[in-house]
Amino acid sequence: MEQYIIRGGKPLMGEVVIGGAKNAALPVLAAAVMTDGECRIDNMPDVRDINVLLQAMKGIGATVDRTDKHEVVISGRNINPDEDVDNEYIRKIRASYYLIGALLGKYKKATVALPGGCDIGSRPIDQHIKGFEALGAKVEIINGRIQATADELIGCNIYMDVVSVGATINIMMAASLAKGVTTIENVAREPHVVDVANFLNSMGAQIRGAGTDIIKIRGVEKFNNCEYSIIPDQIEAGTFMTAAVATRGDITIKNVIPKHLEAISAKLIEMGAKISEDDDEVRVRASGELKSTQIKTLPYPGFPTDMQPQMAISLALANGTSTVSESIFENRFRYVDELTKMGAKIKVNDRTAVITGIEKYQGANVSAPDLRAGAALVIAGLAADGYTVVSDIGYIYRGYEDFDLKLQKLGGDIQLVKNEQEIAKFKYKVV
Ligand code: UD1
Repeated sequence: MEQYIIRGGKPLMGEVVIGGAKNAALPVLAAAVMTDGECRIDNMPDVRDINVLLQAMKGIGATVDRTDKHEVVISGRNINPDEDVDNEYIRKIRASYYLIGALLGKYKKATVALPGGCDIGSRPIDQHIKGFEALGAKVEIINGRIQATADELIGCNIYMDVVSVGATINIMMAASLAKGVTTIENVAREPHVVDVANFLNSMGAQIRGAGTDIIKIRGVEKFNNCEYSIIPDQIEAGTFMTAAVATRGDITIKNVIPKHLEAISAKLIEMGAKISEDDDEVRVRASGELKSTQIKTLPYPGFPTDMQPQMAISLALANGTSTVSESIFENRFRYVDELTKMGAKIKVNDRTAVITGIEKYQGANVSAPDLRAGAALVIAGLAADGYTVVSDIGYIYRGYEDFDLKLQKLGGDIQLVKNEQEIAKFKYKVV
């Protein structure tokens, strides 16, 4: 069983290069099957969710040529539209649902296993279904699979009842190959929504307004070849920003779009961190006492829910009382029990955590309850006195490439271990 062992207490210092955004890459890869030509996609993160999706795409006949760790050439020419997208792996990732929008748009039919993903809340897909049905599809759930079929898809007006990243992207994909114009209102504005729209446009789609709350799509008949580079990962970057703050370090985070990090930067500055920005990098420094603050997660440009646990582990080390309110997913405080083992003082009442700052964490054995909380617990370990062992790190592999290696380069004393002997060896290592 793989675990991370950490000897904490050292400020993280130096430079780290951020990879492509997982949550942009997943829909971009799914959308790539919509052309019978070839899409060359670059700056793709080499993380578990991406590899599972690529495997599923191969399973239905897509050509997936991994030309490099971070580049892939995809063609949907040989897809068998009658093949179901289903296996034990695809059921574990959330993004499998993007193949519904992609295949429904292209072939007017799709059968895909119901999506899985981290257990952070109920995660319904009613808005996706509402959009597909508005475009003229018949959608049924049969034996744990979503089946969507249409004689033709016709452009229409859709108002989203909740702001959903997944539903916005899925409907945008299907509508791109529908007849006529589709207008989607109250859409998500996340950078990855814009990235997917740019990608579809580079294949020949006609999408306007991505990044605002109304998207207009003029359907086209088919898509062409394209070359595309995925945007940098806002959440990976944010995670290293909080690592600098929690360990009182000094990290320059490269290959980022500083604008996408504004909500995170603003809160870290309130906590007393010093942040400087350049074209494609941010430097985050923190020393001495951290200040408490209030956070509420919201759709972009608000504070991202995917940064909530990493921020909370930093706030648990700040002077005074902070509050963190989670307004997107109801089950995102499962790391609190683990963090309590390390000495944190946090009380969760419904969707709000009240955090009383402590001076230092104490190392402990903890387990990752989901992807982002897993990364947060690793950072807590790096800021702690003594040894921390983090288990269930498969969650972290879903969304962070070489997380341990990147932290080692910043001076973090962290190692991947597979058994008790390796843990003992790490503990007796002379430093
Ligand atoms: C995506 C991200 C996830 C991130 C989340 C919010 C991927 C693979 N995952 O998840 O990391 O935390 O955006 O930024 O990109 N909702 C409905 N009905 C629906 C769809 C959503 O009620 O049909 C609700 C959800 O329960 C949630 C909110 O809308 O409360 C936002 O969810 P959504 O933006 O759809 O999240 P995901 O696309 O699942």
